[in-house]
Amino acid sequence: MVPIAERREKEIGLRMRTSPHIVIYFQVRQLVLENYITRQSFQGGPATVLLLDYFTIWRTAAQALRDLTGYTEESIVDSIRNLRDHGLLIAEDSEQDRLENRFAKKWLWPNASRYYHFATKLDEPYSSPEEIRNYYEKYLKGTKQPAIYKTYPERPKIRLLPDSGAEAPLFQTLRLRHTTRDFSGGSISLKQLSRIIYYTWGKLSTYKTQEFGHLLHKASPSAGARHPIESYAVVNNVEGVRRGIYHYSVKDHSLELVKAGDFRERCVTFSAGQTWTRNASVLFLMTAVVERTAWKYRIPRVYRAFLLDAGHISQSFLLVSTALGLGAFCIGVISDLSIERELGIDGVNETAIFAVGVGCSSKEKGDFEKGAEVH
Ligand SMILES: Cc1cc2nc3c(=O)[nH]c(=O)nc-3n(C[C@H](O)[C@H](O)[C@H](O)COP(=O)(O)O)c2cc1C
Repeated sequence: MVPIAERREKEIGLRMRTSPHIVIYFQVRQLVLENYITRQSFQGGPATVLLLDYFTIWRTAAQALRDLTGYTEESIVDSIRNLRDHGLLIAEDSEQDRLENRFAKKWLWPNASRYYHFATKLDEPYSSPEEIRNYYEKYLKGTKQPAIYKTYPERPKIRLLPDSGAEAPLFQTLRLRHTTRDFSGGSISLKQLSRIIYYTWGKLSTYKTQEFGHLLHKASPSAGARHPIESYAVVNNVEGVRRGIYHYSVKDHSLELVKAGDFRERCVTFSAGQTWTRNASVLFLMTAVVERTAWKYRIPRVYRAFLLDAGHISQSFLLVSTALGLGAFCIGVISDLSIERELGIDGVNETAIFAVGVGCSSKEKGDFEKGAEVH
C-alpha cells in the first residue's frame, strides 16, 4: 500500500491539461460538459469552466492550489479529481492523452463532424422487442404519422409514362430489390461472392490524374474519388472458403484472412443484437479510413461524404445481390465499438460506418409482398 501522504503528493504533482475534445451545452437548465472521444459527460457550473480554462496549458494541482484563491484546498483537489475521472482533464502520458493526441493528428475536421461521429457511436445491444414496443407506446402511439407523400395539388401536372421494366435487366433488378432478413443459413458460391465484391468494392479500372496520381474507378461514385470505405467480409457460409473475417484487398481483388473461426454469433453482436444476421452467408463490415478523405478536404461538411459513399456502395451491393437471386440487407444499427475491437482498428483513423449482408433467402419469391417487416 502506498501511504496516503505519498499518494496525495503524487496526485497534486501530476501534470494535466483540459481535453481539447469537449463540447459544452445546456440541457434542462443544467450545464453539461461532454468529452466526445471518451463519451463521458459531466454536469458542472461556472466554476468547472473556470477550472478547465486554467488547465488549457499543462499544469499541476499543486500550481492550482497556489494560483486559485477563494476556494478550499479540499474543494480544488476534489474537483480536479472529479474532472479527471470524467475525462475532461487528461493526465500527461496517460492512455487518454495518447488517444486524444492521435485523434487530433488524424481527424482533421473541426468540432461539428467530430462531435456527431463520436457521440453517436454504439456499444450496446439493439433494443429488445419489449423496449421497441414501449418506445412505440410512449412516443408514437396516438400521434399522427407525417404524410409519406408531398404533392403540389394546385400546380399544373405532366403525367409521366409508366414503366414495365422490360427494356433492361437493371429495371427488373430495381423492382426486385427489397430487404431480406430471413435466411436459411445456406451457402453461396465463391463465384457469387467474387462478383458481389467486384461490383461493390472492386477496382473496375484506374485513371491517371495530374495532381493525385492514379485514381480508382468503381461501380459507385466517391467524393473526390477518395474511396475511403474499406470492407471486411465475415464469411459464415461460402462454398470452399474457410469461415473467418477477411479484409478485401482492392489492389489485387483478394480476401486477406484477418481471423479464422466461426463468427456467426459475433455477427449478432456486430449488428447490435439483430439475431437474424447470424444466418447470413456473409456479413460485410464497412469502415472509413479518415485520413484518405480528410487529407484532401479539411471542412467538416466533407464528413457527410463517408455516409453518402457508404450509402451508394450499399445500393450497388443490394442490386448485385438481387441480380444474382440472393437475399440482401443493409444495417445502420451496428455496434461500432465491438466491430472496431474485433477488427483491431483504432476507431479514430479507421472507424466503423455501415454493414451489409447477403445469403440464401428462406422465403419463397412473392412471400415478401404478403407482409414485410419494417425496421
Ligand atoms: C441507412 C439505413 C439503415 C438501416 N438499418 C437497418 C437495421 O439496422 N436493421 C434492419 O433490419 N434494417 C435496416 N435498414 C433497412 C430498412 O429497414 C429497409 O430498407 C426499410 O424497411 C425498407 O424496406 P426495403 O429495403 O425492403 O424496401 C436500414 C436501411 C438504411 C437505408
